Amino acid sequence: MKITIMGTGYVGLVTGACLADVGHQVFCFDINREKIQQLLQGQVPFFEPGLAQIIKRNVSQRLFFSDDFLQSLNYADVIFIAVGTPPNGDGSADLQYVLGLAEQIGSHITDSKIIVTKSTVPVGTAEKVKQVVDQQLEVRGLTVNVEVVANPEFLKEGAAVADFMRPDRIVVGVESESTKQVMSEIYAPFNRNHNRMMFMEVKAAELTKYAANAMLATKISFMNDMANLAERLGVDIEQVRLGIGSDHRIGYHFIYPGCGYGGSCFPKDVKAITQTARQAGSPLTLLETVDQVNQKQKQALFNKLNQYFAGELSGKVIAVWGLAFKPKTDDMREAPSRQLMEQLWQVGATVKAFDPEAMAQARLIYEGSLKLTLVDNPYDALVEADALVICTEWAVFRAPDFEQMRQLLRQPVIFDGRNIYDPHAMACLGFHYYAIGRGKSALNG
Ligand code: UDX
Repeated sequence: MKITIMGTGYVGLVTGACLADVGHQVFCFDINREKIQQLLQGQVPFFEPGLAQIIKRNVSQRLFFSDDFLQSLNYADVIFIAVGTPPNGDGSADLQYVLGLAEQIGSHITDSKIIVTKSTVPVGTAEKVKQVVDQQLEVRGLTVNVEVVANPEFLKEGAAVADFMRPDRIVVGVESESTKQVMSEIYAPFNRNHNRMMFMEVKAAELTKYAANAMLATKISFMNDMANLAERLGVDIEQVRLGIGSDHRIGYHFIYPGCGYGGSCFPKDVKAITQTARQAGSPLTLLETVDQVNQKQKQALFNKLNQYFAGELSGKVIAVWGLAFKPKTDDMREAPSRQLMEQLWQVGATVKAFDPEAMAQARLIYEGSLKLTLVDNPYDALVEADALVICTEWAVFRAPDFEQMRQLLRQPVIFDGRNIYDPHAMACLGFHYYAIGRGKSALNG
């Protein structure tokens, strides 16, 4: 089938590449000419395992890139909108790019289209897109059949290709039977052994996306809150995590305490849905607290450092392992590392940091900062550092050379925002080890 994707950001590119890989003919449009040129040469603008290989093996055969809007519009009858929905000042999602495209589509189409919203958009957006397209058609005096489908993505950064190829579910909010058929055909290659399609009403599909992310964010904030209590009570939260996870109703997923959730989705989506809820007159008070708990949790590492050094952080050198908001991505959006580093700089400390993938991002964000030194390997960050802080649980940090670490650090002290080591073992190795909610052992220093 022929498919057009508008927007070659994270979602658009993964969707386009994966649909091409299963045999569809996919035309990806973006207004950014430079990006299109890079993609045509097989260069992916961000790090995502497996994506570059998929693009390379399909580009120019089944996968096309162009900044020519009309060509992209005329290429297919099905158009996926995958442009950004950044947050407005009040936390609501900014729909200017989505509705801008709808306006352009309405101004140029001559035959019927199915428009699929793939971006995370507030409930009611599909309806708005349809209105905008229809308005343009009316101005042009045309009657063209346009149906808008809500088909949210559930891709995790770092595992997006696998999530797309082997989805838990494919949520499709759709009205007509004929469009259902088209969507079934597009996704048929992902439903061979097990039907993952879930057809529902359009608004239900839109809300499903937010509800899923909100539920996951709630699990994390719940666990972080509980971890803070555990620490006060002298209990190791990791034992509690195993204890509750064994209950199938709770499960082991997304109950890892840490230094807060980040990324492009959870913080933004939680704020957006709480904003929608307030506007709808049915505030999501629980979720508003989830957001507050997360903001507080992102300060946990700084507070621990500040306490350890009795407020004397000025002039200290702090090593940071992990800058990305989670492993297997170079994304630093809303990453806990950023809040930590910025707080440290404010009180006069400097940072030496290492991340396996996010160094280029860090350079872009903090270009010219004299308070940040980026080093090429984890151990270089420790040289003459007063403490180490772990912000991201990259595999490479899990079994390091502890002896070397102890020798390189000025003081053998580690603040672990991801609970990757065993406190007892760390104490035996001679470290002062402070993690998240590790009870008595957290106070071994
Ligand atoms: C998320 C959703 O999982 C995905 O379905 C949606 O489409 C986009 O948003 P992503 O932001 O890529 O994906 O990352 P995810 O793996 O969900 O992690 C989000 C954040 O939560 C990370 O900062 C991670 O470190 C944190 N997290 C996750 C925890 O702190 N504890 C956990 O138990 C799990």
